[in-house]
Amino acid sequence: MSQLLVKGGNRLTGEVTVQGAKNSVLPILAATLLAGGQVELRNCPRLRDVEASIHILEALGCAARWTDSGLLVDTGGLNGCVISDILMREMRSSAIFLGAILARCGQAELSYPGGCELGPRPIDLHLAGLRELGAEIDDTGGLLRCEAPRLRGREIVLSLPSVGATENLMLAACGAEGVTILSNAAREPEIVDLQEFLNACGAEVSGAGTDSVAIVGGRRLHGCTFTIMPDRIVAATYLCAAASAGGEIFLRNAGERHLATVTAALREAGCAVTADSGGIACACRRRLKAVRPVRTAPYPGFPTDAQAVLMAALLRSRGATVFEENMFSSRYRHVGELTRMGAEIRVSGRVAVVTGVETLYGAPVCCTDLRGGAALCVAALAAEGETRVSQTAHIDRGYEDIARDLTALGAEIRRIETTPIET
Ligand code: UD1
Repeated sequence: MSQLLVKGGNRLTGEVTVQGAKNSVLPILAATLLAGGQVELRNCPRLRDVEASIHILEALGCAARWTDSGLLVDTGGLNGCVISDILMREMRSSAIFLGAILARCGQAELSYPGGCELGPRPIDLHLAGLRELGAEIDDTGGLLRCEAPRLRGREIVLSLPSVGATENLMLAACGAEGVTILSNAAREPEIVDLQEFLNACGAEVSGAGTDSVAIVGGRRLHGCTFTIMPDRIVAATYLCAAASAGGEIFLRNAGERHLATVTAALREAGCAVTADSGGIACACRRRLKAVRPVRTAPYPGFPTDAQAVLMAALLRSRGATVFEENMFSSRYRHVGELTRMGAEIRVSGRVAVVTGVETLYGAPVCCTDLRGGAALCVAALAAEGETRVSQTAHIDRGYEDIARDLTALGAEIRRIETTPIET
């Protein structure tokens, strides 16, 4: 159990290297099951959710170990197709293992991943797509019992571009006979990373990054060495940290191409953002101004995962900014914590209006979810006095070490270990 102590007021200066992407490595770890051999993942972030995926792989008979250059996974020893309820609950995106296990074993049994702190997180599209590929799924009693001795490729039209459903079906389709076309697929950059990983293992997948992904099933896959893409949401978080605290930072490894909506908002707010092949530089020298409405949407729209951190950066801006959260029903839980610090935010349904205040004050606050927790740190950097951030386990799901990175940028932030009662 730990808390983060943040003393606000320092301008940020310096540079950090952005870690590998959580949302890329999680489906890729599930995809290693298809390789049936040794995979080396470079730039693999050390995260709680990655550890949870490793536990699942180990429970299935596979091996994984960290090396100096990344994570080595060997799925040659796969000897099971059941994931226990405890392991499924350790990580929200465990459902993604379903497509991979079915493709490799023809059967799978796992429990429902359940709801989450952002609101209900159904997997109906995942299951409907798998059924269209020929899987028989009994989903009664909180368990998913799946049989798919033979999966057959076909066109599947997703009723909405779900990231997880697109990835799950890409994995299952690798084990299907014939060609699968996923229409209205999600276009997130992490899906392109998954495609590149699968192709490096010998699969034949094309179209990722567009709304139509084609998978030629039945190829025999093998291991490979693959480098995980940089995490665009971590990059967005540190850009927002610089916008909040002021200063000049450089994010090595970050690519602006995947962050265009976030950097556009920061430029509109008054930050100078420039990018080259080495990374993104952000300079914020004066009080920010409010920006035009920020509406979250599937990629290439504004990422829901960056909504909270941008909101935190704008708490002391001049004017009012309207946020519209269109992806998840409970994604304003950080608002109550930010108002403890003196922020002025009104929420009505999916809309939140942030009116900039002159001063934020340090306060005891509690992480409500992963990105909401990061937003508390972003706000704390600009607050007078000390902020004590508790329930930091949420943050650790997606940031290797947020205190390490912000300290490298000149912030005063440290982690302290606490007893359960203090946390
Ligand atoms: C992924 C990301 C998460 C991000 C989200 C939206 C990972 C590990 N997580 O989550 O960080 O916030 O994309 O960009 O990559 N939906 C259904 N039925 C389904 C599936 C989804 O109704 O079967 C709905 C969801 O409730 C949500 C919307 O579709 O409202 C988008 O969800 P989805 O794109 O599937 O997000 P995840 O893959 O869970």
